[in-house]
Amino acid sequence: MPVIAIIGAQWGDEGKGKVVDLLAQKARVVVRFSGGDNAGHSVVNPYGEFGLHLVPSGIFSSQVVCIIGNGVVINPGVLIGEIEQLNQRGVDTSRLFISDRANLIMPYHILLDGLEEEARGGKALGTTRKGVGPAFADKAARLGIRTGDFLDREALLERLRSIIDYKNIILTKIYGVSPLSLDEVYAQYCQYAERLAPYIRETAIMLEEALSRGELVLLEGAQGTLLDPDFGTYPYTTSSSPLAGGGCLGAGLSPTRLTRILGVFKAYCTRVGGGPMPTELKDETGDLIRERAHEYGTTTGRPRRCGWFDAVAARFSTRINGFTGAAITRLDILDILPRLKICVAYQLDGQKIDYFPGNVAALARCQPVYEELPGWQAPTSDIRNYDQLPLEARQYVARLEELIACPVNLICVGPEREQTIHKTPIL
Ligand code: IMP
Repeated sequence: MPVIAIIGAQWGDEGKGKVVDLLAQKARVVVRFSGGDNAGHSVVNPYGEFGLHLVPSGIFSSQVVCIIGNGVVINPGVLIGEIEQLNQRGVDTSRLFISDRANLIMPYHILLDGLEEEARGGKALGTTRKGVGPAFADKAARLGIRTGDFLDREALLERLRSIIDYKNIILTKIYGVSPLSLDEVYAQYCQYAERLAPYIRETAIMLEEALSRGELVLLEGAQGTLLDPDFGTYPYTTSSSPLAGGGCLGAGLSPTRLTRILGVFKAYCTRVGGGPMPTELKDETGDLIRERAHEYGTTTGRPRRCGWFDAVAARFSTRINGFTGAAITRLDILDILPRLKICVAYQLDGQKIDYFPGNVAALARCQPVYEELPGWQAPTSDIRNYDQLPLEARQYVARLEELIACPVNLICVGPEREQTIHKTPIL
């Protein structure tokens, strides 16, 4: 009954999609457990290149049942579009299921995400404006509409009527924009309901049954640990938990079921949106990494901020998630650099510290303390064996392994499935 949680260990975009697609070849169930279509999981495989936003990255393996868990907020229009695109490209989605407990992203969530960001002015969070934050806020406020409501149109209408009146007061009186029409939103969501109803299930039961059959289950995280609303760089975070603990809640699984927790770390750091990032490189090395790695958001196209590997943040991530192993992705991006830096501590107000401050203002004042290592300046994309990596690349990985304090299971040297070095077994 193994369950492996695949967790973003930095600020998202670590390459979880590739790792899930790879491991899914041996799995029977893959569950996406948090976030919404703010996520963009890049997958390159024999079907082609994909940027998945809601459908789990296990969808390309024909034996895998894919579940969008209760912890995800779903924009039904986006999900339908994604299913159609996958089908057009020859990917079968008949094994996709959606939890009946997942909250829906409604048109007012998307409007409010944009309006709230505008209102923040210079203090904008840099959200993806997909309505994810407002949808999770409504879930907590018990103002959400859920996928299960799609199965009873009268109840859906009643619930929508009471909520939309309230949202229209906010839209018109606070933001001075036009109200939404109940009839139009209802008609549109009835169409979505028609299309998505066949996928909706009590998915936690499906999961329990898969586990009782001894099947391998993967939990697919979205975003990264440092965007967690509790442990990330609050308020510059997302609105649902990308942590392993969030995986249990968002999939509907007891914590005692987790067998392995795989932290996915990029070989350097990136961040998109606002908030502090101690190792950010605002120089030509940062630009070089961005262009070489094409570090632009899969969801918004925004340029990602690039920087050196932050081992202080990484260690924090290992501790808070309890990683049993790590995947280091995009090692090949560093192939051309003559020297590499790893941040091993911070200098905060004249003191050297080795912890990740919870206070965002303190983190913004942290200056990285670097350790320098020689680069390898040789291509690694065709290497499949750890021993064949250049000595300097092995030294770099070994140092990361030591600093993040968990064994490295996988090293990715390119986007394709086979561009992976299996250093030590996950299970
Ligand atoms: P939201 O999740 O759209 O509300 O955005 C909040 C913050 O999380 C912003 O800084 C976003 O850029 C960031 N964020 C959300 N989803 C992702 C992701 O999938 N990758 C990287 N950053 C993300």
